[in-house]
Formats: sequence, C-alpha cells, structure tokens
Amino acid sequence: MIKPIPVVLDVDTGIDDALAILYALYSPRLEVLGITTCFGNGDIQTTTRNTLAIVELSGITVPVYKGAADPLVGAWSPQAEAFHGRNGLGEALVPEPRLRPQDQGASQYLIDVINARPGEVTLVTVARLTNLAIALKSDPHLASKIRQVVVMGGAAFVGGNVTPVSEANIWGDPDAAWVVFHSGVPLTMVGLDVTMQANISDQQVRGLDASRPYSTVVQTALEFYLRAYNPEAPFGQRRAPLHDPLAVAVAEDATLCTTEMWPVDIEREGTITRGMTVVDQRGWITASPNAAVCRTVDAPRFLSEFCLRLGFPFSPE
Ligand code: BDR
Ligand code: CA
Repeated sequence: MIKPIPVVLDVDTGIDDALAILYALYSPRLEVLGITTCFGNGDIQTTTRNTLAIVELSGITVPVYKGAADPLVGAWSPQAEAFHGRNGLGEALVPEPRLRPQDQGASQYLIDVINARPGEVTLVTVARLTNLAIALKSDPHLASKIRQVVVMGGAAFVGGNVTPVSEANIWGDPDAAWVVFHSGVPLTMVGLDVTMQANISDQQVRGLDASRPYSTVVQTALEFYLRAYNPEAPFGQRRAPLHDPLAVAVAEDATLCTTEMWPVDIEREGTITRGMTVVDQRGWITASPNAAVCRTVDAPRFLSEFCLRLGFPFSPE
C-alpha cells in the first residue's frame, strides 16, 4: 500500500478551483489535511462560501480555513467575473452550506500544520499566494519544513491571461508571489505553459454523470466557463482550461509534466509587466534556479484520469 501524500489546498473558489477540490478529495493518492481560502475569483466571503459548499457537496469531511481578504499591498477588486460569474461559480444556484470555516485563520493553520509534520506537507496553491506569504513572513523557519509547493500560477514562456505577460494568481498579489519565490521553498510552477493545454470540452460537460452529488452545480458552472472562454464558438467546439485541477494532478503524479529548473523572479512594479513571472533565460541576474517550471504536459493522460474520477465521459481524440 502506497503512503498517501499529505497536502493542503489553497483556493479561491472559482469554477476550476471547485473541480480541483473535488479532484483532490476523491484522489486515491492524496490525503487532504485541510483547505485554506483566499480572495481572488471573488471576495473572501464568496470564495470561502463556495469552498464550503463544494466540500459539502463532495460528501467528504475536511476542515476549511478562511484566509486573506486583500493582497499584501492594496485592496482586492473584482477581476474574474467574466470567467467565474458574480458568485464565483458561473451563477449556478449553490445551496447555502451548513459547514462553517474553522476558527483558526488560514496562515496560522499553515504554520501549525507544517510545523506538526516537518518535511512532509505539500501545499497546492491555486490562488493568490497571500496566505502562504503571510505564513512565511511570520515564521522564518517555515520554508525549510515544507516538502514542496505546487503553484498554479505564472506564465514562463507564454503570454499571460490578465495582461499580455501576467497570469491571474501572480498578478493578483505579486508581492506575495515575490515572498514565496524568494523563500527557498521547493517550488513546482504549473503555469499557463501547461494549463492551457489541458482543456475540457462541451461534450464532456454535457455528459457529466447526473448521479454525482455535485453534478447540477458543476455542469451549470462549466457551461458558463465554456461560454466565457469561447464567446464566438458554437456548442460542440468549445473548450476551456482546467488550470487548478492540473496543479493537483501534478502534486499527485509529477510525471504528468516535464519540468526544467529556472531562476524565476516576480515583477512587482512594472507599468505593463506587473505580476510577470520573469525567467532569467540567459543568466543576467545569475540567480540560482528556484522553480521547477512545467514545460509540457501529457494532457490525454491527465484528462482521462480527471474525467474518470469526476464522472465526465472521456474518449481519446
Ligand atoms: C487561475 O486564475 C483563477 O481565475 C483560476 O481559478 C486559476 O487559479 C488561472 O490563471
Ligand atoms: Ca483558482
């Protein structure tokens, strides 16, 4: 029997976050110790409520810890409504959860869970890196006790999705990302380089197993997500990226992606490059590599497992 991998998920639920939560909770290889929430795809109330609702729909018990409401510098403002809807779940009618967040806040939980199991815990962050940055700043010894951080974020060798060069999770709190990328913690960067290759289709969304407890919410949310990513395309030709589930999948099975070690820095102030993950390709800054950057993904292998686990039909293209 293989020992499960202890993980904490950090989310800003969010349509693809909801799928990442389900994918992680139903994983045969991961032990989800807790879920921390952050602002991002909605305000912190919305993302926490959505997280609790999805956990409740999953039928699996896991503690949820409410986290940051704003980035380290400045204040949150809505940015993702076009892709996630005003309620963060594509306007799907989400039952009010009975579950409540834990009394402890997200950053303190991260400090405690990592210190309780030094060297064991993998963090999968699929949101702004604010909660982790606060934890790293409060406990200077924390980075050395984290097994690894798998970050859904950044765009190493491809364009961005909120600006020409910046990806949403880094752009939404570049100061926090800077803290994490400079902390010395082992990092795997699951950026747009690979997440844009892992897409779900109309046919898969339409075919979701109706007996799943989350099927109505997830199907409605994904229909919104497909429309948002493909405003011009007709039904049958639409596809949308599974950013956050892919990060969970990489935490579970690193062989899904090829990686290269690179020095990656974070642009915190640029007028048109704020939030860029800058890869020092020619060694200008002579920084040592700090991140395993995902370069390619075996998308069919990921998708077949994703579909099987969550109840979507899959047929290889
Ligand atoms: C990331 O931004 C969020 O909107 C998504 O949930 C995902 O984590 C993609 O850039
Ligand atoms: Ca997310």
